[in-house]
Amino acid sequence: MTVERDGVAARAGAAFPRRILSGMRPTGRLHLGNYVGALENWVRLQEAGWSNFHMVADWHMLTTGHEDTSALQSDIHEMVVDWLAAGLDPKRCVLFVQSAVQEHAELHLLLSMLVSKARLERIPTLKEQIRDLHLDEATISYGHLGYSVLQAADILLYKASHVPVGEDQVPHVELTRELARRFNFLYCQDREPVFPEPEAQLTAFPRLRGLDGSRMSKSLGNTILLADSPEEIAAKVKQAYTDPKKIRANDPGRPDADPLDGHPGCVVYEYQRKFNPGGAADVAARCRAGTLACVPDKGHLSEVLAAALAPVRERRARWSADPSAVRDVIADGNRRARAVAEATMDEVRSAMGLKPRAALAR
Ligand code: TRP
Repeated sequence: MTVERDGVAARAGAAFPRRILSGMRPTGRLHLGNYVGALENWVRLQEAGWSNFHMVADWHMLTTGHEDTSALQSDIHEMVVDWLAAGLDPKRCVLFVQSAVQEHAELHLLLSMLVSKARLERIPTLKEQIRDLHLDEATISYGHLGYSVLQAADILLYKASHVPVGEDQVPHVELTRELARRFNFLYCQDREPVFPEPEAQLTAFPRLRGLDGSRMSKSLGNTILLADSPEEIAAKVKQAYTDPKKIRANDPGRPDADPLDGHPGCVVYEYQRKFNPGGAADVAARCRAGTLACVPDKGHLSEVLAAALAPVRERRARWSADPSAVRDVIADGNRRARAVAEATMDEVRSAMGLKPRAALAR
């Protein structure tokens, strides 16, 4: 038996199909780290026949940036263009915007009854945000405290079996599992469980560092964007951190980290390993021997990156030339997401003893 739901073929046999729900805060144009850490993996799952739901987490964005929303719509648009550029196929994936599906708010409210304030305050991701953004714990908004409950609603509405996330997001998936279990226990004694317990799916490749060797982040200006031209890539790679002790061209270099000396490892080598897996060992050997200088090494990496990103750049050019086609993709995704979310909310309301939607004038 093949289960066909919302036009996406799901794997037969399982009570809950193999489905991913990813969420990404709309930060505008995406960078190489987003590509390696997330997009590449989503495309791989799409090719393997999974049911892919990809959500622009615009309400989540408001938790830490609600004052100035002037760039929000263009950031959403640019990010979806990059998703399409990375190779997500809107026929096989559902690309949608959280705020277009109001059921996220409804499920968030219902789930918020099932978790204590103390439990939310213990979530390490929130604690890290408070530390990193220098927030005052006493001024955290009600919405920000509930961030992870909203994320649980995002995931459970689509009954995702897997959630592709970075290490930092695992506590949110853990909370999602708890909420699914609690809901099923409280309200599904006399029926099939409404929610699966989703699993976090960590990406295989470790996070790429930024060009300067620190954490890759748009705000730090150390990224290569998927939208960058080969010339822009070359100019940025020229600035990349290598080995500060390799001064002359024929000095032996240290591709790997040297913790005793505070050397975090050459960024060019790190990118070579990722984008030129077959040739990176040779590059490193010649660097160590002092027969490869940083300038030609960087020139070579720029070519490798430009070639690896060529298909992305071509698709990006096509989609960005046609903004109304992108808007159509989003509108269609919103519609398909809404259909699934509405069906789930019917089950949720029924299990909880709330009136079905059909009984309400809408
Ligand atoms: N919290 C995630 C982040 O900051 C974004 C997100 C929102 C998300 N909803 C989600 C991720 C649902 C996975 C599933 O990166």
